Amino acid sequence: MSKKRVLVTGGAGYIGSHTTVELINAGYEVIVVDNFSNSDASSLEGVKKITGVAPTFVEVDCCDKEAMRRVFEDNSFDAVIHFAAYKAVGESVAQPAKYYRNNLLSFINVVELMKEYHCKNIVFSSSATVYGDAEELPVTERTPRKPATSPYGNTKQMSEDMLRDIVTVDDELRGIALRYFNPIGAHPSALIGELPRGVPNNLVPYITQTAAGIRECLSIFGDDYPTPDGSCLRDYIDIVDLARAHVVAINRMVEGRCEERYEIFNVGTGTPVSVFELVKGFEKANNLKLNYKVAARRPGDVTAVWADTTRANEVLGWRAERKLEDTLRAAWQWECYVRNREK
Ligand code: UD1
Repeated sequence: MSKKRVLVTGGAGYIGSHTTVELINAGYEVIVVDNFSNSDASSLEGVKKITGVAPTFVEVDCCDKEAMRRVFEDNSFDAVIHFAAYKAVGESVAQPAKYYRNNLLSFINVVELMKEYHCKNIVFSSSATVYGDAEELPVTERTPRKPATSPYGNTKQMSEDMLRDIVTVDDELRGIALRYFNPIGAHPSALIGELPRGVPNNLVPYITQTAAGIRECLSIFGDDYPTPDGSCLRDYIDIVDLARAHVVAINRMVEGRCEERYEIFNVGTGTPVSVFELVKGFEKANNLKLNYKVAARRPGDVTAVWADTTRANEVLGWRAERKLEDTLRAAWQWECYVRNREK
């Protein structure tokens, strides 16, 4: 039997490259498109080293519909995973039009081309950001979304809504939105991982760069939140576990097991972890001391958000498996690998 073929947009990025590895390991043929706006070809080389397979790659911007049409013309896809998007919250506040144009246009292009070329299944890369300052914790997929507090968050909500509306009137199309909590870590081989450009916004890359001496000191944004230790609570999900959630979602779709046209799943561990706990966990896992200080709260941060993962556990048969300690060790090994590579 020929392999099922999956188009992965943004497949050179952090989540995209790890998902590409897991798809290849699960027996899928993967075609990656990426415009390298926030990634480079080294991740695809890493994928090849890990799997022994070089995924077909086309350098293309999903906003360029004609270029994307050629990709659909040249291949028939059983499914698409749409990762390609900008993701910096602060930048989205400063440059909203850039975010709306890129994230919404690329999504619409992909969905329209899927329709045109009779591709039936799409997994959309959504985010726990859609819950905002949630009314209940942990959040389930039924917890009401809050109005987005950034254009970035708004593009995730709008894309979810577009997907729901489009599949609702289309008998052929199925959509799954995966709402990621806080993806962290790297592949255990340390051959692929997160490659932030410039000063990292997210906690774990800031920690690893501080440990590597690139940043002087980690600022812990707030120790006066109403939480057990005063720092924010998040649900940190290992990147390989997250990548595997995409594989089970794709399996469900290509095997025709979706119960509804549009389905949503939280992808997290279900366990809240504070910033202090994460920092201490990183120190312990890697047997080092981190330079950190308490600083003011970061505007826009919510006190706490973590996932109820019952639906993903029961319906997808997926659960997070990797231990936080191993994840934090992988994050550090990846940072060390990148530093050596750049020497
Ligand atoms: C952020 C985005 C979220 C997005 C996700 C993508 C905001 C408000 N939210 O989530 O919309 O989907 O990234 O990865 O930007 N922290 C520090 N010091 C640091 C960096 C972070 O103390 O230098 C703390 C933050 O206050 C937060 C936690 O670490 O409590 C996690 O922060 P971060 O990694 O940026 O993720 P989120 O803010 O949860």
